[in-house]
Amino acid sequence: MWGIIATWRMAKEGVKEGCALLKEGKAAGDVIETAIRRVEDTPYYQSVGYGGLPNEESEVELDAAYMDGDTWSVGAVAALRDYANPVSIAKRLSEEKVNIVLVGEGAEKFAHKEGFERKNMLTAQAKAKYQKRVEGLKTEAGQPYSGHDTVGMVCLDTRGKMTSATSTSGLFMKRKGRVGDSPLIGSGFYVDSQYGGASATGLGEDLMKGCISYEIVRLMREGMSPQGACERAVNQLDQELRRRRMEAGDLSVIAMNQKGEWGAATNIKEFTIVVGTEAEEPAVYQVIRQPDGHCQLEKATSEWVENDEQKEKVAAGV
Ligand code: GLY
Repeated sequence: MWGIIATWRMAKEGVKEGCALLKEGKAAGDVIETAIRRVEDTPYYQSVGYGGLPNEESEVELDAAYMDGDTWSVGAVAALRDYANPVSIAKRLSEEKVNIVLVGEGAEKFAHKEGFERKNMLTAQAKAKYQKRVEGLKTEAGQPYSGHDTVGMVCLDTRGKMTSATSTSGLFMKRKGRVGDSPLIGSGFYVDSQYGGASATGLGEDLMKGCISYEIVRLMREGMSPQGACERAVNQLDQELRRRRMEAGDLSVIAMNQKGEWGAATNIKEFTIVVGTEAEEPAVYQVIRQPDGHCQLEKATSEWVENDEQKEKVAAGV
């Protein structure tokens, strides 16, 4: 069995490409990197890679991570500027024994030394959005922290190897140097080829409080299905946050186990995922939260997917 699952509809093309590669017998490490790069390279996805929205100083600072579920090798970068594909830099770092998580200037120096592609990641559209927001904040009592969605994936190849990876520009108007859950092992991602993997999207500051991706893999290790583990982890963290802090940010997750079974859950009304396995063609699903805390997964129609993509293009100003 092979398979790949990703957060958000924006991963559709990457997952499709990933499925074709997995079918050919390609390794989960290369496949997940290719699939995430596809999202990073698309200028109208405003929360990942090129086209990502900037921090409060108008700089695009990117976070990304990669984990190998066989060896537990991990690499991550945070607050990285001016490099086209943070996921590839994270994957390269996972080959190192020490210095596997690099931030800011240190990450940029490493990327330069290793010959990764330098690129100004701030598009004209993202800059215009930033300027509009700055103007808006002068007149409205606004809350700048909104609009975030990480691409996170879990991949299983024909040899049973699993990987997990993430990439994001984090919160729009975040403070310079702010790091979310996406490059933090156990929070934004975790994978163990013996049991399965998970990845998260939403408010990093809250996702990291529950080490949510590790918790999902732990629950799968105890025998829970991916769907059961996702729902349990989201609902428990949501309840704990509300009990201790009176509120919980957005928490959305995906998981796949070593049999290629998969699941997803959220504490918001709805989020989207993309999944393809040996048994199912790649498809977009809407994950809809029910009043009882369970999530209903509905395959999105092609009309819905096109409409959603069109809305995103309009929002990005392309
Ligand atoms: N989940 C992405 C972030 O908070 O940066």
